[in-house]
Amino acid sequence: MSNTYKNWSMQTDAKGYCWLTLDRQNSSANTLGHVVLEEFEQILNDFQKNPPKALAIKSGKNSGFIAGADISEFVHIQTEAEANTMVRHVQDIFDKLEDFSFPTVAVINGFCLGGGLELALACKYRVALDTPKTKIGLPEIMLGVQPGWGGSIRLPKLIGTLKALPLIAAGKVLDARTAQKLGIVDVAVPERHLQAATEFYLSGTATLRQCGSLEKIIQFPFSRLVLGNIFKQQIAKKVNRKHYPAPFAVVDTWMKNSIYSSNAMRAEAESIARLMVTETARNLVRVFFLRDRLKSFAKTAKFAPQHVHVIGAGVMGGDIAAWCALSGFTVTVQDQYLPAVSATLKRAMQLYQRKFKVPYLVQAARDRLISDINGTGIAKADVIIEAIIEDATAKQELFAKLEKLAKPTAVLATNTSTIPLATIGKNMSQPNRVVGLHFFNPVSIMQLVEVVSDDNTNPEVVANASAFVGKIDKLALPVKSSPGFLVNRILIPYLLESATIYQEGVAAAVIDKAITDFGMPMGPIELMDAVGLDICVAAGKSMGVPMPAFVDDMVKAGKLGKKSGSGFYEYKNDKIIRPKVKTDNKIPPDITDRIILRLLNEAAACLREGIVKDADLVDAGMIFGSGFAPFRGGPLNYAKQIKPSAVVEKLDKLTVTYGARFVPDAEWSNI
Ligand code: NAI
Repeated sequence: MSNTYKNWSMQTDAKGYCWLTLDRQNSSANTLGHVVLEEFEQILNDFQKNPPKALAIKSGKNSGFIAGADISEFVHIQTEAEANTMVRHVQDIFDKLEDFSFPTVAVINGFCLGGGLELALACKYRVALDTPKTKIGLPEIMLGVQPGWGGSIRLPKLIGTLKALPLIAAGKVLDARTAQKLGIVDVAVPERHLQAATEFYLSGTATLRQCGSLEKIIQFPFSRLVLGNIFKQQIAKKVNRKHYPAPFAVVDTWMKNSIYSSNAMRAEAESIARLMVTETARNLVRVFFLRDRLKSFAKTAKFAPQHVHVIGAGVMGGDIAAWCALSGFTVTVQDQYLPAVSATLKRAMQLYQRKFKVPYLVQAARDRLISDINGTGIAKADVIIEAIIEDATAKQELFAKLEKLAKPTAVLATNTSTIPLATIGKNMSQPNRVVGLHFFNPVSIMQLVEVVSDDNTNPEVVANASAFVGKIDKLALPVKSSPGFLVNRILIPYLLESATIYQEGVAAAVIDKAITDFGMPMGPIELMDAVGLDICVAAGKSMGVPMPAFVDDMVKAGKLGKKSGSGFYEYKNDKIIRPKVKTDNKIPPDITDRIILRLLNEAAACLREGIVKDADLVDAGMIFGSGFAPFRGGPLNYAKQIKPSAVVEKLDKLTVTYGARFVPDAEWSNI
């Protein structure tokens, strides 16, 4: 058998077991591109002629098993027919793997996603490494498509449709233990047992996993009709079919074809082929690459921080400290007020229990987070993050002190949302050391961190700060120090317009529905309540676009939004009480345009002012920092899809009706 493949290598051990290793050339992770798959097919063809005693498929990368299909090849697929041909070919390859009579084992040493799991599902057994880095699932839905290489058939066959379809429809990614519990992997073991466990399955003595006999009944046409409709109702509670057709398509395909039907694979291929050429899929693939672009900013410096010191253990500082310790850093957390640190430790524990579940991992993270009222960590830290109250004088004093106490190589970062870096560094001898690390609330959920600099900031500091952001598994977006930076600057006019429409007499729920129908994850009125009306008022003022006076009055009356139990909406036990909308409530037809176009116009202004480098970064910032409808690919991408001339035309009309705030930005002629 030839052993001259670019991406695969093979070894046969003394027991006669063949170990096939995938180590994709010139790539840090294994993905399944056409060359990798063609080589795999040749190898399988050889096995058909000369079968090994047993076959283990493993990864040559420490990063994990296989991350999925090579998405960069998707963008070249233009038509449904092309997509179908590609998918059917890979289905055939995986069928060959499944048809072997000798034992086949996938050795999952980390992520095993999408096409990677579909390959593993075509093996007879799956052995997974039990570490937090192991992530197993079929997240194709996140790219606007569905599993197409047999995953939507083999996973239900393995664990049952009732468990498999909701996982696929939600694009859920599981840890090794959960995957074992569900039966997706045969066993999850620590590193020291991985070899022995694999050899046990290679010996062919283990029984094959199969779902129970109930599955036969579930596949009856009537069961599929009833259950399929229930599945779709559940999905419709979370996403709009018009915006995200893929999860519905998974269920529809199953409703038409039982997993045991001879047509099942063909139907799966047809469904994914249809989805691959939709605007939603194209935009979600774009989002995938935007994420990669942001990740690349973290790769320019070889900065290897170990100790983080956070000053100010409030809403933000507390959560930032907790997150950094979760990511593996030693973290000292300081506040002038001891109860703030105690509250941080308590919140952190809840976060770790939610994220890790396993007691020893929870405890390890908790041990890394250290209360440090006297600030002894300052001198040892590689990264210092200031998150004290938003007061320029307090921050100036603090940074002047930090400069003297910190290591000369330490990154000195501020989480300010409004104060220019030049102001914060005013009393320092080297103000070019200060960089902004602007996190979003809630820290554990929001992926973006704006890395703020001005013309004076040392570029090495910016590169190190960005590298740090990557190390805590967040996405770094370099932005210029300017009021509101990128995301808040674009959001404020959008929120302001929503508040103005509310003041005109439109119910909060009506406004929010218009915008969630557009595709935002949360309506703007509910968002204001969630952020805090006091913060919205302060942010508006600092950017020179004040909120309508009635919002200020609400704040003065103690109505701060969700945190005070009352704002635009009322809240009980932190849960929103959604009012019934009266049918006689007037609904102006231009609500969506007014709100969304203010956002688009501000996005164009930011591009013109160079707040970020280019239009893609404006889009990335808004998607990862504000949740802007990902299926639209970002505000400027959306504007391009509906044509900038159409945006300008609408803005002109709104200017005539509502005034100068809608005057189209000059940048539209360049977009
Ligand atoms: P917060 O009021 O919840 O917390 C501030 C904490 O700093 C308090 O615990 C206070 O005791 C402590 N503190 C004040 N002066 C101190 C000093 N000199 N030394 C040590 N501790 C001190 O404030 P929050 O909301 O966490 O904001 C902190 C910073 O983060 C501000 O600059 C704010 O603009 C920024 N920010 C806030 C966001 C939010 O959604 N709340 C979002 C992004 C940034």
